[in-house]
Amino acid sequence: MSKILVTGACGQLGSELTAELRNIHGSEYVVATDITDPNPQIGEGPYEHLDVMNRDQIEKVIEQHEIRVVYHLAALLSANAEKKIGLAWKLNMDGLLNVLSIARDKSLEKIFWPSSIAVFGPDAQKNYTPQNSPCNPTTVYGISKLAGEQWCAYFHRSFGVDVRSLRYPGLIGYKSLPGGGTTDYAVEIYHKAVKGEPFECFLDKASILPMMYMSDAVKATIDLMNASEKNISIRTSYNIAAISFSPEEISDAIRKNIPGFEITYTPDHRQKIADSWPNSIDDSTARSDWNWKPEHDLHSMTEDILKHLPGFWGVETP
Ligand code: SER
Repeated sequence: MSKILVTGACGQLGSELTAELRNIHGSEYVVATDITDPNPQIGEGPYEHLDVMNRDQIEKVIEQHEIRVVYHLAALLSANAEKKIGLAWKLNMDGLLNVLSIARDKSLEKIFWPSSIAVFGPDAQKNYTPQNSPCNPTTVYGISKLAGEQWCAYFHRSFGVDVRSLRYPGLIGYKSLPGGGTTDYAVEIYHKAVKGEPFECFLDKASILPMMYMSDAVKATIDLMNASEKNISIRTSYNIAAISFSPEEISDAIRKNIPGFEITYTPDHRQKIADSWPNSIDDSTARSDWNWKPEHDLHSMTEDILKHLPGFWGVETP
């Protein structure tokens, strides 16, 4: 069994992916790392403080734990990246280049790296954006993800590094909170709803974005990593899709379970970012290459989240 390293393990995706990898492979085979202290969601198992901008630190942890596979998730998300452009570039790029070059030098088995729908800009086809739509992002985050995709393809082509990647849409889960993203509203909204509080949305009510329930995102990641190498035709990053909705549509779905839920709209600087991204994504290549298929739609996701969040007072209970 190859030992796995996860960077950014305490982030929104990292927390749930680390827990699932530990379920599948056994805790001792999954070394979680982040710049913070561990959170309870990732479960028991080896943990190291790790700054991915420090190549020596990564190399040391990889050697110490005899790591063969890396899920490199540490990054700054879109809204935060606009505020800290230098740090965003350094963290998102240096971190990836450090991991890719170590993978080359140590002949690691496999690397996973997340890209995003943010690689697309206003000139991409808005609906069912194809895999090879023009990629002219207008955000620092998008620029870093696009450059990262090209680095992944380069390390695969030039050095045979088996690096695999997905262009995640907005990820929605109830176990861990996102930070500094444009799609974060679709997580926060549930936390307000279960407390019986109104939600002030930072995007316009009609702003449709591609989204995905966290369990589908974790499944997509693991399925891609398990796919046979010969089935991987995309070495930049795969489009994947599940659901597309607007703030108004998610609030309607919540209201089916919590009729009194109230939402207001006060678009801020994140609206411009949302406007530059697609409404929906064509993921047919992922479907045909490695049988990708999401399980959740807006309504099943909403019911599942509300059922699990503490404090959900349901329709019957006042
Ligand atoms: N969820 C991310 C963000 O909003 C997009 O990849 O930044």
